[in-house]
Amino acid sequence: MEVIRTLAALRGRLKGEPLVACVPTMGNIHDGHLSLVRIAKSQAPVTITTIFVNRLQFGQGEDFEKYPRTFEDDCAKLEAEGNTIVWAPDEKEMYPEPQTFYVDLPKVSNKLEGRFRPGHFRGMATVVLKLFNSVQPQVAVFGKKDYQQLAIVRQMVDQFALPIKIFPAETVRAEDGLALSSRNRYLSPAERKEATRLREAIIGVRDAVLGGDRNFIAMEYAAGALLARHGWNVDYVVVRNQRAVLRPDNTDKALVILGAAKLGQTRLIDNIEVQAP
Ligand code: PAF
Repeated sequence: MEVIRTLAALRGRLKGEPLVACVPTMGNIHDGHLSLVRIAKSQAPVTITTIFVNRLQFGQGEDFEKYPRTFEDDCAKLEAEGNTIVWAPDEKEMYPEPQTFYVDLPKVSNKLEGRFRPGHFRGMATVVLKLFNSVQPQVAVFGKKDYQQLAIVRQMVDQFALPIKIFPAETVRAEDGLALSSRNRYLSPAERKEATRLREAIIGVRDAVLGGDRNFIAMEYAAGALLARHGWNVDYVVVRNQRAVLRPDNTDKALVILGAAKLGQTRLIDNIEVQAP
């Protein structure tokens, strides 16, 4: 596997490559990321995993400095998975001068995750656009675990007419259903056991939707109350449309239930798509 650090070297290496699939990451690679690499490999002969911890998408109180940086370990996992290239620019390479141009996002980016992490999606979309311009892939793979991120990237690609196919990847889960996340490592053994309740609460809402119930606000409230009774600090459990992650209107059938809540000090997110009858 090749490790490339500079934009010039990346461009040189990719010159003439007709089909490249990109997996953008901030490192700390786990099985969830590796599943994205597997999808990338099924789409293109050359796969590039980018590793860059993007300061722009961290808000105040979110510890950019403490974000786990595990580069050697990440490369070993990616190499074992058959990834072709790791592009790992440092901050000076990615932002040679302070970034003063940003992607201006629609209102949805201030809702749900955006409400609890102001500026996060603006920083995310800005670096993703820059990664796309640097790598110029034909395909890019994003996990459904970060559902709002995926929706924003898809809309950005559509509205800026970027010639990139965005490939959504299913969330990878532990045996008991917990979505894999770098944050799971912060859960105590008791919290780890309790952590599956977020998904269970979301499944409860999904089952009600499948049963034909469209009283979403009542379902959202019941799911939040269930979590709160078990000691969770709930940010939201909501039903949204899949397209724009906005409140569904009466005709929306392709829905997604999203939840975010804190267990002790650890904030977990999860979601499930559902087709309403
Ligand atoms: O999902 C992530 O790891 C990041 O938000 C991304 C897409 C790599 C942009 O920094």
